Amino acid sequence: MGVRAIRQLVVIAVALSLWSFAPRPAFWALCVAYVAAVLLLSALDAGRFIGRVPRAAGLVLLAIVLGAGGLGVARAWGAFVEYEGLGGLAERVGDRVRVEMLPAIAPRLVVADRPQTFFVQAQAGEEVSVRFGARGKLLRAREVGGGLFRVEYDPKRDGAPSPADGPLPVEIACGGRRSERTLLAATPLAHPRWLAASPDRARAAAVSEETDELVLVSARGEVRRVGVGDGPTDALFVDAAHVAVAHRDEPALWIVDVRGTGAGPRRVEIGTRQARLALSPSGQRLAVGRGGRAPELVLLDVASAGVAARVALPAAPDWLAFGADDATLIAATRADATLHEFRDAGGTWREIAALPLGRPAVTLARAHDGARLFVAVTDYEPDGRAHLGNHFIQDQILTVDTSPLRVAHSLLTARRSPRQSKPGDVDRGASPLGIAQARDGALLVAFAGTDEVWRIDASTAEPEMIDVGDAGLYAPHGIAELAGGTLLVSSPATGSLGLFARDAAAPRVVHLAPSDGALLAHNPTALERRLGERDFYEATRAGISCQSCHLHADSDERAHNLGDHRLLPTLSVRGMTGTAPYLRDGSYPRLSDLDHVARMLYRGYLRKTPGRAETMAAFVAALPRRETSSGASGDLARVQRGLRVFERAGCPSCHAPPLFSGLGQHLAAGLFPERAAQLPRDELLDAPSLLSVAAGAPYLSDGRARTLDAVLSQHNRDNRHGDTARLSRDERADLVAFLESL
Ligand code: HEC
Ligand code: HEC
Repeated sequence: MGVRAIRQLVVIAVALSLWSFAPRPAFWALCVAYVAAVLLLSALDAGRFIGRVPRAAGLVLLAIVLGAGGLGVARAWGAFVEYEGLGGLAERVGDRVRVEMLPAIAPRLVVADRPQTFFVQAQAGEEVSVRFGARGKLLRAREVGGGLFRVEYDPKRDGAPSPADGPLPVEIACGGRRSERTLLAATPLAHPRWLAASPDRARAAAVSEETDELVLVSARGEVRRVGVGDGPTDALFVDAAHVAVAHRDEPALWIVDVRGTGAGPRRVEIGTRQARLALSPSGQRLAVGRGGRAPELVLLDVASAGVAARVALPAAPDWLAFGADDATLIAATRADATLHEFRDAGGTWREIAALPLGRPAVTLARAHDGARLFVAVTDYEPDGRAHLGNHFIQDQILTVDTSPLRVAHSLLTARRSPRQSKPGDVDRGASPLGIAQARDGALLVAFAGTDEVWRIDASTAEPEMIDVGDAGLYAPHGIAELAGGTLLVSSPATGSLGLFARDAAAPRVVHLAPSDGALLAHNPTALERRLGERDFYEATRAGISCQSCHLHADSDERAHNLGDHRLLPTLSVRGMTGTAPYLRDGSYPRLSDLDHVARMLYRGYLRKTPGRAETMAAFVAALPRRETSSGASGDLARVQRGLRVFERAGCPSCHAPPLFSGLGQHLAAGLFPERAAQLPRDELLDAPSLLSVAAGAPYLSDGRARTLDAVLSQHNRDNRHGDTARLSRDERADLVAFLESL
């Protein structure tokens, strides 16, 4: 190496060392440090000195100078990245390259437990096929138009992704050419959530939506796992021998004979997107809540398994319960955070009362006599207005009389144990997710935020508390009481069920998924996701968890003040991977940055866990995008016309296919001049991906547009958000149909 090259290396090393002492870790400080290093070394006449030093000593000196420079960089790098706003640069560049390199495919996540739609952007008019994983089938994509293709992938039909977790090679064949892209595969493990006891309380039923199973557990811990249809969402004993199973992706409700006679299930066709179930007091009626395009309640006659009535609803019901008799049914809907009471008047069901709660029912349970319901909420605001407190959460259980429908009592649950030292910190009673009434009338509550179960007895002041986290049952969801007072608790994150018998020294834990140890050895990616799932539900010292607003990773459909005195509608955190940066203003470069909120604003966690930011990000990254109701069954000709309108109106410049986002930020005042007066001058808005957009109402950053059509008409007065002014009503309808198909 020549003297000049060595001199240059020394200059760089000295500059980096100087830079690490600069008052600000900025780029300009690096330039100043470089000039200073050049001046310093020429003042010392370094070139001549280097020429005269013996070779061995020179090498040692050089190593010392370079080492010092390296240390300087190591010290200053993190601060530099932060100061210059370069955090998450790798994620942003990675996501951008992925969507700009043709052929491009989106979304980035492939899950193994459900059918999914992917979009490919390639040459118009070509034949395009896609293979997910080395062993997958080659699937033909269908061109929507203009080089945009859609491909339907059903892991059950087309082969599960392989490898099952982590980077997944995807082959895209266009014409004669083959390209390889890397997506992210996730194969969820068993997730038992809600529990339903049999009439004699000898056993309980649960479903695992992720692994398509019905699970039966006896009070002694014996387990039976029965394969059921696609995406089971709820299970309920209709009598001692039969369990009704609702499905997300299968049009039939199943009635499964659980006596082990080998008889197949009875199927009742009522349509997909079945959610919760409820059984009437006499056992003769079964109510099923359905979401999707036309949400409704379906009432079945248990004996004949026939549909007795259908009641159309404006929004999907989250929870159902019968009142005191077979003719009274209460449904909780998230969209309006209200309980609706329906009454059967000779075969037609009419709404007779509505009770606004202000926040959606997170869970609810019926008292034995149906005269009351127990409803968990994150706050109670009967006037329906949003609470203006910053990130305001106040977990409570409401006792609701069913006739007339009214709140009779409220119990705040969050409280502090001696483990906490600071006033205001809580570590008990956060995020109640499961409620059941014990035989003796006591209330049983599972708290996902604080890994515990309470038994609340009206006759004693303080609830009895069981730490289920000690038995490895993190973030418990479901609770049921079995014979002899044994409590059954579900922990979906760990795929396990715990039995807490009155007289047993230790709980018995039934594992439906591999243990943490087994995952660590064979599937560390799945273990990361599992730990992240716990992080997501875990309460901070402020009693708030991610779950408090993002109900099961979706939105509570409320608006919250996130610190700057403006109310922002909660976004779903599903389908995020590959869309960096995050939040509506794009201010969070990486998913892992969200942990920052929990640590700074919510005063951190009681439980110290290294790598929490990464495990939380791993969990969020593996959440599939939300399902929309139209999908492949939409009217293709109309969707194709809509795509042409989409192109003509200039939408792709910011919502570029196949992700339908350019991953860029835009000045809010430039996009919506009519609102400029209400906005901070330099407010930026991230161009969101339009995949699954139909599932995300209300729209725009403050939720001011109720429908997609309103985004394109009422709320685009200045015609800057795409050129929609010239579109006819029909063209706009086609465009909306196209957006709904994404
Ligand atoms: C007090 C309610 C609340 C809590 C608690 C909360 N969030 Fe949010 N979250 C919101 C709201 C409101 C938004 C929309 C913000 C905006 O408009 O940019 C949001 C946005 C997000 C987004 C961006 C979604 C997108 O499309 O860009 C992610 C990711 C997210 N939250 C994750 C989390 C995680 C992880 C936690 C727990 C550490 C958490 N949130 C806790 C209310 C909350
Ligand atoms: C100049 C860039 C730009 C163009 C052109 C553009 N958009 Fe947008 N779009 C955005 C940004 C930025 C947002 C976020 C606005 C907000 O958060 O209030 C957005 C939001 C949306 C939303 C609401 C998404 C949600 O979840 O709230 C829809 C729907 C949408 N755009 C559709 C379209 C259509 C259709 C066109 C063409 C007619 C179009 N956009 C043209 C940048 C653009």
